[in-house]
Amino acid sequence: MTARIIDGKAVAKKLRGEYQARVRRLMAGHALQPGLAVILVGSNPASRLYVSNKVRACEEIGIRSERIELPADIAEEALLAQIDRLNADPTVHGILVQLPLPPHIAMRRVLERISADKDVDGFHLYNVGGLMTGTTVFPPCTPYGVQKLLEHERVEIAGRNVVVVGASNIVGKPTAMMLMQQDATVCICHKLTRDLAIFTLLADILVVAAGVPNLIVPQMVRTGAVVIDVGINRLPDGRIVGDVDFEGVREKAALITPVPGGVGPMTVTMLLYNTLRSAERSVGVVDDHAPWENV
Ligand code: GUN
Repeated sequence: MTARIIDGKAVAKKLRGEYQARVRRLMAGHALQPGLAVILVGSNPASRLYVSNKVRACEEIGIRSERIELPADIAEEALLAQIDRLNADPTVHGILVQLPLPPHIAMRRVLERISADKDVDGFHLYNVGGLMTGTTVFPPCTPYGVQKLLEHERVEIAGRNVVVVGASNIVGKPTAMMLMQQDATVCICHKLTRDLAIFTLLADILVVAAGVPNLIVPQMVRTGAVVIDVGINRLPDGRIVGDVDFEGVREKAALITPVPGGVGPMTVTMLLYNTLRSAERSVGVVDDHAPWENV
């Protein structure tokens, strides 16, 4: 069996076109332009690049963005004051603090200060808690991107075995909760899991977010599985690869995401979507696709 490759770039492009149309409708019908504030503390080059990508993606679909750059030695109180200002600003519908933060700043205190109604990264405890009950307002962007790819490919989730490799707060745990909410049988493996292959072989849907190149080889994958590779690793020769041996596993899986061009383009796309939805919510527009808003 040779897998069909999920083209995340194409799916992201299609969705961004739909969201752009929704931004236009919001501006025409409610005279409201969605706004995203992105806070960057310090000058970590990778963080700078991520922030630039987010700001550019906003521009492309008509979301106003505000980039706030703060020095690495900023006092925690001064950062919190910036968040208070953005919480009170009605033109700002989403607030994102790029992580990681410098070590003298208490990350949880900062994330909890963001209004849960503007928490488009989905990292506030209110939204994290909502994942447990299926009522989160803003699902975190990478797991939400995985969800949208599965939806786009019409992958059935209810009753399937899902194995998530990686137990991070940003990807592994929320992905597991979102798929469990849809009646999958979910198992989370992590770096101390013994006999990883015993678990991965059970997976109808295998989601890998461990940050280890070539962790998943064909012998660990069930024939006909759906394999979603969330890993982004830079090899010494400069190549970017995921956590899955793509060439080997694609001969065994039914569907597989490449790296780059799989989950990656979906993460920023879902940030745009969360920001758009936050703006829509502020004027009472409810999205049928977000069942948690109707409970
Ligand atoms: N750093 C790495 N990933 C993320 C993310 O998804 N959001 C934020 N704010 N920072 C990150």
